[in-house]
Amino acid sequence: MRALQFDRFGSPDVIVLRDVAKPEPGPGRIRIAVRACGLTPADWHVVDGLLADRLPPLPRGLGLEVAGTVDALGEGVTGVRIGDRVFGPAAFDGPTAGAAEYALMPAWAHIPEGVTSEQAAALPMAAETAWRALDDLGVRPGELLLVHGAGSTVGEAAVRFALHRGIRVIATAGPTRAAALEGIGARVVAYGPGMSERVGALVEGRVDRALDTAPTGGRIDRADRPGPAGGSLPTLIELTGDPDRVLTVSDFAAAAELGVRITTEIRYDRMDEFARLAGEGVLVVPVARTYPLDRIREAAELSRSGHPGGKLVLVP
Ligand SMILES: NC(=O)c1ccc[n+]([C@@H]2O[C@H](COP(=O)([O-])OP(=O)(O)OC[C@H]3O[C@@H](n4cnc5c(N)ncnc54)[C@H](OP(=O)(O)O)[C@@H]3O)[C@@H](O)[C@H]2O)c1
Repeated sequence: MRALQFDRFGSPDVIVLRDVAKPEPGPGRIRIAVRACGLTPADWHVVDGLLADRLPPLPRGLGLEVAGTVDALGEGVTGVRIGDRVFGPAAFDGPTAGAAEYALMPAWAHIPEGVTSEQAAALPMAAETAWRALDDLGVRPGELLLVHGAGSTVGEAAVRFALHRGIRVIATAGPTRAAALEGIGARVVAYGPGMSERVGALVEGRVDRALDTAPTGGRIDRADRPGPAGGSLPTLIELTGDPDRVLTVSDFAAAAELGVRITTEIRYDRMDEFARLAGEGVLVVPVARTYPLDRIREAAELSRSGHPGGKLVLVP
């Protein structure tokens, strides 16, 4: 099968498209014929050597979330059959991962009717992170939540889940997703200088809690345009009045300095709930562009620009 693989750490330039053996599913895992593989900022961290000491030796594969058709079942797997359409996280502890013609999955759910493979492959990481972040932040129905960086896929999923939970939402986003976020019921302002005043103009008093979903907290927007120290977290603290009412999914260094909460423990035990919400149209992660495997360089460049404008999806 064809797969994207790397056998040294570094920039996306180390990634190569190769013909390799199909992976075999061990106990509790399934193998799928991959129809679509979502790219995430975490891919570039893994390629750069994150988790290097916790995973088996190189080579390793690219791609952490997938959708496709079940092709083989590992020992002990129940509740799914060959030919079923599923989506979820890809196993990435072997020589290949999700960006391949076949991939192993440690967890999955059935793709609901009316959802394409590309749309399904865009869901797992954004949905899991957003759900967990809202839970860890402890935001309750009726409260006013500020989602900063809601133009990111995690941010948009958080806005959608929050509104569905009966939470009122103000979102900060650039022009690409602003109208879509307003369309689902968030009040939207631009991020960047003056954000505090723009949010302040919409609320009496404070916002109850704030969730930072901007890549690196907006700390470094682009290498040539570094943001303020601590990114937007000081503004989010000011708007809530308490660092304990702020959670970031990305800017862990600033969070440690400022006493802001973080969330890091990925868990994929809610895939059926995400499938149900996707089927009902509550959970949608916009797909910005699709690419064949051999255009990974182009996809990586847009992904790493900080402004992909939605999910980038590889289609083997
Ligand atoms: N803690 C965890 O467990 C966990 C898990 C998954 C992901 N993450 C992290 O969560 C973050 C978001 O991930 P993602 O996949 O959703 O990212 P993404 O979709 O690639 O985010 C890109 C979007 O962020 C917006 N953005 C860029 N710079 C910004 C800034 N300075 N301020 C506000 N918004 C900005 C842009 O939208 P506009 O059009 O609005 O500019 C852009 O399209 C990443 O840092 C990722 O590493 C953490």
